[in-house]
Amino acid sequence: MSDPISQELFARASKVIPGGVNSPVRAFRAVGGEPVFIKEARGPVLVGADGAEYVDYIGSWGPMVLGHAHPDVVAAIQDAATRGSSYGAPTEAEITMAERIRDAVPTMEMSRLVSSGTEATMGALRVARGYTGRDLIVKCIGGYHGGADYLLVKGGSGLATLGEPDSAGVPAAIAGTTLLIPYNDAYAIEKLFSERGSEIAAVIIEPVAGNMGCIPPDPVWLDAIRTQTQNHGALFICDEVMTGFRVAWGGAQALYDIRPDLTCLGKIIGGGLPVGAYGGRRDIMEKVAPVGPVYQAGTLSGNPLAVAAGLTTIEHLLRPGVYEDLERKGDQVQGLLEQHAGAAGVPITVQRVGSMVTAFFRDKPVRNWDESCDTDREAFGRWHAALLENGVYWPCSQFEAAFISLAHDAEALEKTGRAFKAAFAAL
Ligand SMILES: Cc1ncc(COP(=O)(O)O)c(C=O)c1O
Repeated sequence: MSDPISQELFARASKVIPGGVNSPVRAFRAVGGEPVFIKEARGPVLVGADGAEYVDYIGSWGPMVLGHAHPDVVAAIQDAATRGSSYGAPTEAEITMAERIRDAVPTMEMSRLVSSGTEATMGALRVARGYTGRDLIVKCIGGYHGGADYLLVKGGSGLATLGEPDSAGVPAAIAGTTLLIPYNDAYAIEKLFSERGSEIAAVIIEPVAGNMGCIPPDPVWLDAIRTQTQNHGALFICDEVMTGFRVAWGGAQALYDIRPDLTCLGKIIGGGLPVGAYGGRRDIMEKVAPVGPVYQAGTLSGNPLAVAAGLTTIEHLLRPGVYEDLERKGDQVQGLLEQHAGAAGVPITVQRVGSMVTAFFRDKPVRNWDESCDTDREAFGRWHAALLENGVYWPCSQFEAAFISLAHDAEALEKTGRAFKAAFAAL
């Protein structure tokens, strides 16, 4: 149950905003409740409309790796704002951002800033189609890459949460340019390329799946994608909108030794403001306008406030020990989940890569979308509601990864442990 103030706000919102929310997963439909409205956030804490405090495991669905309202990020945004909020002309900070990205993710020799992860994947796929002269793209069943028409085919968490595997409003001809493969299935990718390899422009994947819950990739599968794309003249796109600067300084491609042709970033590189980026091999990125024929543009691309917030966030991630700290905190959360589920006799399987974690309500690992669906989502919903009552804001869908920040301190983790204990016991 959400608090009375949130209930009132939700009723008011529902009259003027579809479903009362500006992005579907926020509506709590997957857990059968109503959303808690947030009035402010600091460090690891979200403050609800009624003043109740929650330890936050959403982190704005990924960006808030430093925690909320980090003083340096706030100062950077304030400082940038005094110098104007948008120019529509290039700035030095955008070059610094592209250099930082290239230093952290060496496969991104050149990059283009956009305003969201959705725009990043759209840009990358248009370049891939322009570069190869082919139309077909390949994505995973349950993989989410933003809101473009051709990507809303078996698109993971948000769509599944609505009970609609595909969105209305997507022309069949456009959906028909998307081919689907199961996550982590090397045989499927080999078979697909043996049948249609010469028509495929690109394969796009989440190198650690986050939108069907947290699923690590099988290295054999990653190798198969690299080999098949290379052999058939297609491009390999890593969508690191969620994993970039999250699972390691160099993203999942550093962790799993992947060499994609193109990479998409978002979330963390905006420090909580709207940013995305796509980039990769120089010869491919030189197809982008104005040097090449692939058009892509944006009024607010490289926005000075967003770049300031992103650069400040990235500066903090450069400090020694940061990713070890995230790993330690992730390990602690995993330990607490396993301890309290075990004590209460609730069968769960915890999957985690660094500070991305999912407690799947089933007793065996999850490797793909079908297995992610084979979970006890009714129990998950009750667990989620009990966590809220005990001051923990966990992602409101079994299909979403939880995010831990550097601000999750001992106090936050202790409160989390108490909430896990109570919530598992209540099942
Ligand atoms: C892997 C991945 N790609 C792309 C996107 C789209 O990013 P945005 O919501 O910023 O448009 C998301 C959003 O959650 C994502 O998780």
